[in-house]
Amino acid sequence: MFGKIIGTGSCLPKRRVSNNDLSEFLETNDEWIRERTGIGFRHVLENETPEELAIVAAKNALDAAGMSGEEVDMIVVSTLSSNHMLPSVSCLVQRGIGAEHALCFDLNAACTGFLAAYNTVQAYISMGVIKTGLVIGAEGLSRITEWADRSSCILFGDGAGAAVLREDPSAQFGMIMHADGAKGDALTCEFSYGMENGYPGTVAAVSEEEKRHRTRMQMNGQEVFRFAIRQVPAGIHELLEKEQMEMDSVDWFLLHQANARIIEGAAKRLGAPIEKFPMNLEEYGNTSSASIPILLDEMVREGKIQRGQCLVLAGFGGGLTWGATKVIF
Ligand code: COA
Repeated sequence: MFGKIIGTGSCLPKRRVSNNDLSEFLETNDEWIRERTGIGFRHVLENETPEELAIVAAKNALDAAGMSGEEVDMIVVSTLSSNHMLPSVSCLVQRGIGAEHALCFDLNAACTGFLAAYNTVQAYISMGVIKTGLVIGAEGLSRITEWADRSSCILFGDGAGAAVLREDPSAQFGMIMHADGAKGDALTCEFSYGMENGYPGTVAAVSEEEKRHRTRMQMNGQEVFRFAIRQVPAGIHELLEKEQMEMDSVDWFLLHQANARIIEGAAKRLGAPIEKFPMNLEEYGNTSSASIPILLDEMVREGKIQRGQCLVLAGFGGGLTWGATKVIF
């Protein structure tokens, strides 16, 4: 047996930054950013933390499901940009929502992370280990963005999204997921502790400039673009074939919100109408593993996604990683 989505939630930081705001400290402009990416705004953390966004998103998802935290058996948080290594964000969410019976861990598959977390919770449900799981994508990318690099910083934003899954005899599940670590240098970011801490005398000193470079996201935009435009449609084709589904049977393709041109290119290659590829990146930019659940939550709340509809969620990003997951809502 698999799990069905019975509630969704999201949370965005209040501070909204426009393209024009960026052009005050960067050589860029609204027209260039919109034309190349489709992005108009992004929300960035001010006094909030990614952990707090995750807790609010989780509470909203539980409210939508009509459940209390006590009924949650498992919490998996996907993040690459939280404030905490210890305790894990999922343990902080557990405390925040009173899910005292839940098993908890975080995972990182970059922008494919929400799918990795969703698939993991489905696996635990299908093994009979749990009945109810909470899947969260929560990011504070503004803290690791290189704000001096106009070719990457224009893309990213912060936010969190969540979904509650409950065991259901009618639920269906199918997935594909891949990684190509050999191309990992296309999108990188290191934690700083590896560079200056360690057993006395074992770690070489690094300059502040080198440290800043390595601890902010560095991206080869064109390589990531080429990878995404090829692998996203290929992954969706692979999923449809594996699940013996027709393209027409899919009501919505919820793609990771990285760039409107990537999403439009994927729709074109798949030969599916662009109207089936909703986008909210104009408002939020790329929120990594939070982008798919934020979009899912918005569409559910707007009544666009209806019970019984077939969704394909498709993620791609750092690693490099990519995947697609079938959801019957
Ligand atoms: N404003 C104005 N000009 C900019 C700019 C900005 N923010 N960023 C780059 N430029 C300039 C470049 O310097 C370059 O100028 P030049 O021709 O004089 O050298 C020109 O615009 C073209 O740059 P290029 O890098 O070729 O643009 P692009 O069309 O590839 O768009 C990205 C850049 C980053 C928008 C695009 O490559 C992309 O979206 N890639 C995918 C990234 C992604 O989604 N990453 C996350 C995946 S999860």
